[in-house]
This record gives sequence, structure tokens and C-alpha cells, in this order.
Amino acid sequence: MIRRTTFTIVILTLLVSVFISACGGSTGEVSPTTEVNAGPETTLDGKALLEQRCTACHTLERIERASKSAAGWGLNVREMVGKGAELNASEQEVLIEYLSITYP
Ligand code: HEC
Repeated sequence: MIRRTTFTIVILTLLVSVFISACGGSTGEVSPTTEVNAGPETTLDGKALLEQRCTACHTLERIERASKSAAGWGLNVREMVGKGAELNASEQEVLIEYLSITYP
């Protein structure tokens, strides 16, 4: 009789823990989605970077009028970062490539 009760308790415990982990699993799906949505900071699109990070101090016109080689844009972007443009190393690389193709 005691063994049977123990058996029932074990089964119930298993069922409850399966139920809890199933709920935990569905809650866990929500946070990765939130993380992905929190990612516009790391845009690696040259045009978007230009429009978002290069228009704080002057208009795009200033850039559209310019014509530089890849090396020239490299210097310019580094100079702008020195002035305060917010671009990390890989963003600078993408933007320099975009600028040298778009405004050669
Ligand atoms: C923190 C302010 C600031 C930001 C952000 C900024 N600039 Fe500038 N930029 C300036 C200032 C100030 C000048 C004028 C400097 C001068 O005439 O010597 C300038 C001038 C320029 C010029 C004309 C001068 C030249 O060398 O041809 C270009 C092109 C330019 N910026 C491109 C950019 C690009 C590309 C970005 C984005 C990476 C950017 N700027 C972001 C402040 C900024």
C-alpha cells in the first residue's frame, strides 16, 4: 500500500514538472524575440547608417556634394567620428564602402 502511494506521488511529481517546463518553454520563446527587436542599433546598411548617423550636425547635402576616393571617404568618416559621429568599427567599414560607391 505504501509503495503504491509512493508510486502515485512520483507520477504526479513527474506530470507537474512536465507541465511546469512546458509553460517555461513557451515563456522562454518570448525573450529571444524581444532581443531581436532590440537590434536596430547594429544596422549594417550603408544608406541607413548615412541617414541616421551623419545628419546630426549637417544635412546630407554636404555629403552628396562631396566626391572622394575610398581612401578619401575613409579619412572623412574617421574625421567625423573624431567630431562625434557614432559609428563602431564595422559600421565605419560598411559606410565607407557605401560612400565610395555612391559618391566616388
Ligand atoms: C558631430 C558632428 C558631425 C557629425 C555627426 C558628422 N559630421 Fe560631417 N562635418 C561636421 C563638421 C563640423 C564639418 C565641417 C568641417 C570643416 O568644414 O572642416 C563637417 C563636414 C563634412 C563634410 C564636408 C567636408 C569634407 O571633408 O568634404 C563631409 C563630406 C562630411 N562632413 C561627411 C560626414 C559623414 C559621412 C558623416 C557620417 C559618418 C558626418 N559627416 C557626420 C560635423 C559632423
